Amino acid sequence: MIELFLQEERQRIDRALDELLPAEEAWPSDLHRAMRYAVLAGGKRLRPILFRLGHRIAGGNPDEVLAAACGVELIHTYSLVHDDLPAMDNDSLRRGKPTLHVVFGEALAILAGDALLTEGFRWLASYPPGEGWAPLRAEVCRRIAEAVGSTGMAGGQVEDLAAAGAPPEEARLRRIHEAKTARFMAACLVCGAVLASAPEELVAALESFGLRLGIAFQVADDILDVTGTPEDLGKSPGKDDAQVKLTFPRVFGLEKSQHLLAEMGKALCYEANRLDPSGLLGELVTFLCRRRA
Ligand code: IPE
Ligand code: IPE
Ligand code: MG
Ligand code: MG
Ligand code: MG
Repeated sequence: MIELFLQEERQRIDRALDELLPAEEAWPSDLHRAMRYAVLAGGKRLRPILFRLGHRIAGGNPDEVLAAACGVELIHTYSLVHDDLPAMDNDSLRRGKPTLHVVFGEALAILAGDALLTEGFRWLASYPPGEGWAPLRAEVCRRIAEAVGSTGMAGGQVEDLAAAGAPPEEARLRRIHEAKTARFMAACLVCGAVLASAPEELVAALESFGLRLGIAFQVADDILDVTGTPEDLGKSPGKDDAQVKLTFPRVFGLEKSQHLLAEMGKALCYEANRLDPSGLLGELVTFLCRRRA
């Protein structure tokens, strides 16, 4: 059931991304080709799915926020393109394909990342169209900007790089995971709900749930870097260990990390079913905590 839901969501989101992204032929063609290469290479589309699910949980119609949800996927893809650059994680495989800088060169990868981040915010500021949505769109832009700015993802990425090779320290690890991954994922879930004019209590509950879900998601990512295959992951495993990144397996060991993830999954599932009586969010949690890709 959840697999079918996710597959249908991905198809809808992929189609919308394809339609909304600038055409390759349009000037500047090289930049548009690079942007489309990174975005349309695939990916789980988890952040737009959370955005749409947040909207649905708050009583809205997810079809109304499809284009806005695509905006967060552009912002996410920018973060991956820059994360893979030689100056950062120096990765050559992403979403099953050679990374953008390997194919298009570093300058274009930096600029395609810049353009994706900017275009993502343009979509969030533009969709859904109409004056009635304007205050809600503004709030979404503010919340996403806070989540990916200096005290969110960008700050987390700085700390992630700075902590490479440093002594394992749990508080620092949790701060990094919350900032680089969880703040943005929580904001995706929350902003969907914001566009449905969700009451403050629901926004707060989704926010704290989304943060815990985002941390669990990054724990799974850390574990998969140890246990996954390039075929399943579409990226090269073993990189965290090679770069002595501050990850859950580094601080707790692999087995304890797997145990902690299972515990987080159980607690999250319980909370998810309270937030979303349809059961969809709960199934998504289980799927994400057990994922192999
Ligand atoms: C990878 O995110 C970066 C992390 C925050 C761990 P995803 O695992 O969601 O990547 P895609 O979008 O499916 O490629
Ligand atoms: C990246 O974390 C988080 C981002 C904000 C992009 P990782 O560096 O662990 O992500 P992967 O493993 O390269 O996808
Ligand atoms: Mg990284
Ligand atoms: Mg990386
Ligand atoms: Mg990783």
